[in-house]
Amino acid sequence: MSASAKPVYLFANWKMYLSYDESLALSRELKKMFKGLPRQAHLVLFPSALAMTGVKDELQGSLVPLGAQNTYWVDRGGYTGEVSAAMYKAVGVEYALVGHSERRTIFHETDHDARQKIEALLAVGMTPVVCVGETLKERNNGEAEEVIEAQIRRAFSNLTWPKGCELIVAYEPVWAISKGIGADEAGKHCDDVEAEKMHQLIIKLVKNLLPDQNPVVLFGGSVRPNTVAYYLKQPSIDGVLVGAASTKFSSWQDIVTAALK
Ligand code: PGA
Repeated sequence: MSASAKPVYLFANWKMYLSYDESLALSRELKKMFKGLPRQAHLVLFPSALAMTGVKDELQGSLVPLGAQNTYWVDRGGYTGEVSAAMYKAVGVEYALVGHSERRTIFHETDHDARQKIEALLAVGMTPVVCVGETLKERNNGEAEEVIEAQIRRAFSNLTWPKGCELIVAYEPVWAISKGIGADEAGKHCDDVEAEKMHQLIIKLVKNLLPDQNPVVLFGGSVRPNTVAYYLKQPSIDGVLVGAASTKFSSWQDIVTAALK
């Protein structure tokens, strides 16, 4: 790949799939792979909160940054079970997912929560990765665009985006997300042209709210080694946010290789 090639964002969301020991073992394997990465590869790993510092120690010397799967917006206090953006920042975590559909549906997080998290992350100098996506019911009702529009508006309106901080959105149709690790557990197939259309919509909506920003938009939803290039060939798909297939060394290596071809 030439030095001027477009950056490719390859984000690995390990969700709650890996134990502490498994997270460290995968990190040791990945460290070797990270040595040969071209500059265009923008990889970020999102381990569990438990494994974060262990993974960081394993990856010492590699340039791949880490992200949190979830953060709380108050710096510290009586918030049982939470870890704040400020606490992650203090141990060198640079990114955080916000508004993932599993947080929205299982843990009842709202657009308002997502907005609080975005503000807290920006305040401590971390980069939010704002996840948006419609459910199957919303899509079947013809509401996909209006759902995305509302999520984007509530995330980004009346916000001053800090200089030098990338604005990253992940489009993850809820119906396309894997239900587990095996190949049979993939969600429904999202057509690449349909994904591209939604990415273009997201870019337009963000630019209406924050005209100076050039949003990076990632696709997420059962991305596998055999589909990553299919999505990345679309002009508005800057990268992928991968869950299940990022938690095994071989499938993640195959995804990275296919993405950078
Ligand atoms: P998946 O998850 O790749 O397992 O579908 C993507 C995500 O939810 O971030």
